[in-house]
Amino acid sequence: MTHPSVAVVVLAAGKGTRMKSDLPKVLHPLAGQPMIVHVLSAVAPLQPSRVAVVVGPDMENVGRAVAPVPTVVQTRQLGTADAVRAASEMLRDFVGDVIVLYGDTPLITTETMTRMVERRAAPDNPAVVVLGFRPVDPGAYGRLVVSPAGGLEQIVEYVDASETIRSVGLCNAGLMVFDGRRLFELLDHIDDNNSKGEYYLTDAVSLARATGYACAVVEASEAEVMGVNCRAELAEAEKLIQKRFRRAAMDNGATLTDPDTVYFSPDTKLGRDVVVGPSVVFGPGVTIADKVEIKAFCHLEGATVADGATIGPYARLRPGAVIGPAAHVGNFVEIKNGNLGPGAKVNHLTYIGDATIGAKANIGAGTITCNYDGFSKSKTEIGDGAFIGSNSSLVAPVKIGSGAIVGAGSVVVKDVEANALTVARGHQQTYSGWAERFRAAKKK
Ligand code: UD1
Ligand code: CA
Repeated sequence: MTHPSVAVVVLAAGKGTRMKSDLPKVLHPLAGQPMIVHVLSAVAPLQPSRVAVVVGPDMENVGRAVAPVPTVVQTRQLGTADAVRAASEMLRDFVGDVIVLYGDTPLITTETMTRMVERRAAPDNPAVVVLGFRPVDPGAYGRLVVSPAGGLEQIVEYVDASETIRSVGLCNAGLMVFDGRRLFELLDHIDDNNSKGEYYLTDAVSLARATGYACAVVEASEAEVMGVNCRAELAEAEKLIQKRFRRAAMDNGATLTDPDTVYFSPDTKLGRDVVVGPSVVFGPGVTIADKVEIKAFCHLEGATVADGATIGPYARLRPGAVIGPAAHVGNFVEIKNGNLGPGAKVNHLTYIGDATIGAKANIGAGTITCNYDGFSKSKTEIGDGAFIGSNSSLVAPVKIGSGAIVGAGSVVVKDVEANALTVARGHQQTYSGWAERFRAAKKK
């Protein structure tokens, strides 16, 4: 859906003191990605014509994380209304809807923002639409005061609320949509005359009502609007986002044997009839085609797996691992920047790095591609149908021709031609009766 008349401001200038961290709060990762990136990803489908992130001084790292979205600096943290004012250059002449979001509310969805923008367009033409929710424990959230007719009258911050208002269960999630033509007229009247001495954005509601403008509430679930203020809440948010990813994977046709133990990244792609066993971690950049089985205890990142392949148990696919159709990667195998051809097998205890492995090649247990000499990386090329005997070291750069056999225990330093046998190990010598004589001599 396109809303060319939408501008977005994400507030992220707060210090996040309760995280007890050197990292700004909004850069703490959820599913491996900074919180604020999740917020911006939810905003992107709205295709806003203007977006800005409000940061504090010395938050260049936030700027780098959100680029190319621009940042504006709020010099002193005087409150949420002051933070929006910091983006005034971008917003002054804007006449569409202005969505204000908090960088520490990372689970917000595009659908909810769309509902709010739609509410703004309703006939009663509310100047402010606020996102409300009913938390199990309303705690210190701001409370929404609604008239008997259902219109929003006022937001009262917890610290400023009477006991009667504190007993209200409907809370302010923080997300607000403003009529851009009214935003600054409201902001200009907000003062810091409250118990925190801050300019509260939430005061825009009572000011709008006093001027005769309507205000409205749209509700969302607590799971979507929880704010992250400390590490325990960060862990809670991780749980919720993983729950969402697991659900989506299953809805799209993957079987997760024990969903609660599988961890996804926002960009993980799973095909149909994929089976994922217990305790599997998908880091960033993983694409899995149809009918792949990923057995228990695998860790994948930056990897592509084609149809019908089998991975694990206990396999590690690192960036640049490309696994061909119906290939097998077994236990205690690590693959980095390596291509495994169709039907190739690497079943046990092996390191494949900077290598290409042909179709139907068989890599024996304990094979190591020695790709690094301490200074530079070199390539190993293994042809179609080659057979690498167990416990071989392939010292790169080296090529094993198609159909060649490498004897077990070889240290291969020279190229091997197609269909040859190469054996590169000490010769076996046997001395009859030696062991018996040795033991006899020791007994004396
Ligand atoms: C705010 C709301 C409260 C709501 C709650 C929901 C206000 C006054 N209160 O309270 O009604 O229930 O969120 O989570 O808005 N920020 C700035 N500059 C500032 C102050 C804050 O950029 O000067 C940013 C923070 O980085 C944060 C967001 O605004 O992302 C919210 O600020 P925070 O101090 O966390 O507000 P709450 O006390 O949680
Ligand atoms: Ca907060």
